[in-house]
Amino acid sequence: MDSLDQKAGSFKLGDRHVKRIGYGAMQLAGPRVFGPPKDRAAAVAVLRAAVEGGVDHIDTSDYYGPHVTNQIIREALHPYRDGLVIVTKVGARRGPGASWAPAPSAAELTQAVHDNLRHLGLDVIEVVNLRSMLGIHGPAEGSLEAPLTALAELQQRGLVRHIGLSNVTAQQVRDGRRICAIACVQNQYNLARREDDALLDHLAREGTAYVPFFPLGGFTPLQSSVLTAVAAGLGATPMQVALAWLLQRAPNVLVIPGTSSLEHLRQNLAAGTPTH
Ligand SMILES: NC(=O)c1ccc[n+]([C@@H]2O[C@H](COP(=O)([O-])OP(=O)(O)OC[C@H]3O[C@@H](n4cnc5c(N)ncnc54)[C@H](OP(=O)(O)O)[C@@H]3O)[C@@H](O)[C@H]2O)c1
Repeated sequence: MDSLDQKAGSFKLGDRHVKRIGYGAMQLAGPRVFGPPKDRAAAVAVLRAAVEGGVDHIDTSDYYGPHVTNQIIREALHPYRDGLVIVTKVGARRGPGASWAPAPSAAELTQAVHDNLRHLGLDVIEVVNLRSMLGIHGPAEGSLEAPLTALAELQQRGLVRHIGLSNVTAQQVRDGRRICAIACVQNQYNLARREDDALLDHLAREGTAYVPFFPLGGFTPLQSSVLTAVAAGLGATPMQVALAWLLQRAPNVLVIPGTSSLEHLRQNLAAGTPTH
């Protein structure tokens, strides 16, 4: 696979610059993000192709699987190429029936950071997002002071280089900054879900990375006759248009589309390349 075209550019994530088209590893864990994966060898192949294609930003969590996604990343890519930034998240855990539950206590966060380090084979994690579970279907106001303070202590101990926030409100980002620097915000955002417009614009003005999760719509990828028509006019695929829309939305947007298909990966990596 050709190396990722640089036309989409790069943006600062912590103290690194990463290419604006990254890779989201969540769904590699298997159906319902609960292992085992449908085809582990295919997952390994997609990850290797992503990095060979120029991806230098992979998004994961140890609660994907649980543990499975990180174990596959390690199998596929360890020892990691210089410059590869692996971003993980903590604050949730998996329960019976593949359910998702909050795990915000200091003990749970410490365990989660150590689990990520061990399963990824790292001594320090470049970026850890604190995933708020205060809201079920999206961000909800409430204090993140206790979990963020616990995570900042792990940062001071040298286990975490940078901290980000996920599924949060603008107020929680402001409050969080009184505790530690916030390297990025990862919230749901795509062509059809634009609730974060104001927060995204604010972060763009101040130069903080914004990482939209579900950039293609997540478990139910975006479907729209407009998207299909625009794509046909451009000689692109609808998903390429959805990614290109995010990339043009603001320079601080870093996309992390997930796929288990080599063909879709190739299309996604080409989404920053103009067709005309
Ligand atoms: N912070 C959070 O709370 C949170 C929540 C959810 C996700 N995330 C992160 O965001 C990342 C992205 O989310 P996601 O993977 O769930 O959703 P997504 O990237 O929006 O969409 C993935 C879906 O789109 C399909 N797809 C991908 N490329 C395609 C293409 N070129 N053409 C057609 N279909 C395509 C995939 O199927 P195929 O496998 O068939 O290609 C998959 O079903 C995750 O990996 C995770 O790291 C974070």
